[in-house]
Parts: sequence; C-alpha cells; structure tokens
Amino acid sequence: MSLNLKTLGSFPNTRLRRNRREVWNRRLVAENSLTPEDFIYPIFVSEGINKRMPIASMPGVDRITVDLLDNVVGEASDLGVLAVAIFPEVDPNLKTPDACEAYNPDNLVCRSIKAIKSSHPDVGIICDAALDPFNSDGHDGLVVDGHIVNDESVEILCKQSLVQAEAGCHVIAPSDMMDGRVSAIRRVLDENGFQDVRIMSYAAKYSSSFYGPFRDAIGSSGALKGDKNTYQMDPANSDEAIREVAQDIEEGADMVMVKPGMPYLDIVQRVKDTFGLPTFAYQVSGEYAMLKGAVNNGWLENDKVVIESLISFKRAGADGILTYMAVEASKLLKMK
Ligand code: PBG
Repeated sequence: MSLNLKTLGSFPNTRLRRNRREVWNRRLVAENSLTPEDFIYPIFVSEGINKRMPIASMPGVDRITVDLLDNVVGEASDLGVLAVAIFPEVDPNLKTPDACEAYNPDNLVCRSIKAIKSSHPDVGIICDAALDPFNSDGHDGLVVDGHIVNDESVEILCKQSLVQAEAGCHVIAPSDMMDGRVSAIRRVLDENGFQDVRIMSYAAKYSSSFYGPFRDAIGSSGALKGDKNTYQMDPANSDEAIREVAQDIEEGADMVMVKPGMPYLDIVQRVKDTFGLPTFAYQVSGEYAMLKGAVNNGWLENDKVVIESLISFKRAGADGILTYMAVEASKLLKMK
C-alpha cells in the first residue's frame, strides 16, 4: 500500500506543532543526534618545541608542535572523541619536486603518530596519503612537464602509506584522487603485513576553493602552481561521485569520505543511500572559516551554528564528520 502524503494526517486532526511544544518532546522525536563519537578531529602539526602557531584564516585553530599532541589529543579523547587526523606543516626546505620527505620514516607525520600511539594508545589515528605537504609544487601528485602524473604518483603514495603504517597509523586516508591508488596502497600494505590497517578513501573529493585556509595551514598555498582540476572532481558532478566511490570500494576501501561537507551533503546522502558502507564527510577549512568569520563579526551565534552545521551531516547520513570544531562541539554537547 502506498501512502498518500496529501491526505495523511491532515489539519486540524493532525497538528505537527504538537510534537514541538516542549524540549522533552522535541528531543523524544528527534530523528538524529550528535555525540562526540561522531567527530574526527583534524590536527595540524609543525616542527619545534612547545609552540602553538595560530592560522589567520582559521581563527581558533593552531598548528602545534609534536610535544603538545599529548595534551591536545588527551583533551579531545577525554571529551569522547575517538579519532584524530594528522596534517603536517612541513619545513619548506624539505619540500622537493619528488616529495621524498613523504616517505621518510622519521618525518613529521610519523613522529606525530608515534607520539600519539605512546601517550594515547586507544585513540584512532588517521593520516592522509597525498603529496601536497611535501611537494615543492604543492600538488597531491608528482608534476612532470606541467602535468600531474598518475602512476608515478601512486608509487610514492604507496611508500608514504607504508611508512605511516610502520609508524603505527591505523587508517590511511588517500586524499590525492589519483586513479587506482586504493588498490595499490591495499596491495603494499598487505604485502608488508599490514592487513589490518584500514583505508578511508577520500572517494568523492571535489576541486574546491573551500580548501584555501587548509593550504595556508600546511604552507602549501604559496607553493601550489595552478589548480587541482585535473584530478579532483568538478563541483558540477554527482553521478561521477558514485563511480568514484564504487571504484574505491572495489579496490578495497573500508570507509569512504565526501569532501567538502556542507555544500556537498547531497553527495553524502547519495553515497550512503547507494552503498550503505561507513561514510564520512569533511567539514573543511573554508566552511570553518565561513562560520567563524561570521561569528567573529557578530552576524551568527557561535554555539548554535556549530551544532546546527554538524547535525546536518548526520541528517544526510554521515557516520562521522571530520571537523575542526570537534573539541568545541563536544564541550557544547556535554553542557546540553
Ligand atoms: C590534501 C588535503 C586537502 C585537504 C585535506 N587533505 C587540501 C587539498 O586537497 O588541497 C583539505 C582540508 C580542508 O580544507 O580542511 N590533499
């Protein structure tokens, strides 16, 4: 039997406002909820000791040195956040056209992984596979004669994934959008005894201008020549996202991600509805900057937009959200 929505529950017998009368009633009928366990906390790390360096385009977010990870990860974990994602601001002197620092087993990412593993062994650690923090061209892959080369880049991404797994990373998150990288990384991990290291692929990653503040944070915006349109997806496309996700699942992805978040919630919903596998979304740096910029101008109410923006991801079907507001939002949820 199909329901006729036009005659189902018509006024005045049905008054939809009844269930909105009190807080208890609204919460009782809430279709989605938010907990700190929904959040993955991205953290920017930098060289040095005991330093916090603000990021101008991301008010309230700092790059921190490795020794401070204990505290920062500890605070998130105490609030109930289960996992963190590490992003390095690499010394410009170490950035080269072959991005070889990406697979130095003692690079900033690997040292961060080890620090978190020893101080907070129960916290999940997620690391990008992408060359942009290490590449003097600022691209996620290698640049040869002005082109971002696919297969050669995948080889470096495999080496990068391997040193991260060896350092103790739980989840490799390929964010590079090269073709075939998930299966190649899976194979290298398996061949080296890391069958249990997971892959969360940035499966539908769009070529977005909302990544600007992130590129400031990791110091790649100055280096980046041109744009990422030849490998990241065209914001006009939706069916193509389904193909990207399908391929990554076939290649062995355990979890998939859609990125950016808020402007792409239609994609989150389609991916979750179509495949039903663990689906994550990244509320990216530019979304954070937009909200905080408006808040700092007094145009939006901080606590309310933080929670409203995050619940929208759950409503769309996301199993979790990478968000710079993870700690702040967890504190707000505790107060509720
Ligand atoms: C690197 C990477 C980017 C982000 C996560 N991993 C930037 C990019 O692709 O240029 C963006 C995250 C954010 O904007 O918060 N490949």
